[in-house]
Amino acid sequence: MRTAIYPGSFDPVTLGHWDIIQRAEKLVDKLVVAVLYNPSKSPAFSVEERVAMLRELVGDRPNIVITSFHGLLVDFAKSQGAQFIVRGVRAFSDFEYEFQMALMNRKLAPELETVFLMPKEKYSAVSSRLVREIGSMGGNLADLVPDTLRERIAGRLQKP
Ligand code: PNS
Repeated sequence: MRTAIYPGSFDPVTLGHWDIIQRAEKLVDKLVVAVLYNPSKSPAFSVEERVAMLRELVGDRPNIVITSFHGLLVDFAKSQGAQFIVRGVRAFSDFEYEFQMALMNRKLAPELETVFLMPKEKYSAVSSRLVREIGSMGGNLADLVPDTLRERIAGRLQKP
């Protein structure tokens, strides 16, 4: 059974994340989308809200599990019996950070392979950080976040 973890902050989920989820799903038997509990960041959405939005987006797909995790990614991946870590790379600017993380994860757990996937080029500039910024200033989030979640994300980001 091929299992991959797609970890991230997903604060909030974007169309770029959704593109990667759909690509990764085709490569494995089970995809675990995992939201990190990160005490050092103050997120716009709670982990529970992020998990709920991802679950709503993914819907009823038996091969995709949405969950959250604490601590080291490699420990969580091992606990799930995963062989792969999936990360999306949008542009060259993502590469350095992703490269460092992949090599460090390999040092910690050589049996885990990091797989990089590229989203459609129209999502190259889409990031959760920009969604938060645009949303908090009342900008249009169309083509940045899934339609079904847009109102919820926009409403929440506009609250003071
Ligand atoms: O969406 P993000 O914020 O780019 O995701 C980063 C994430 C969650 C993949 C990364 O911060 C992570 O794996 N954190 C867990 C702690 C860990 O394993 N750190 C060592 C990484 S080499």
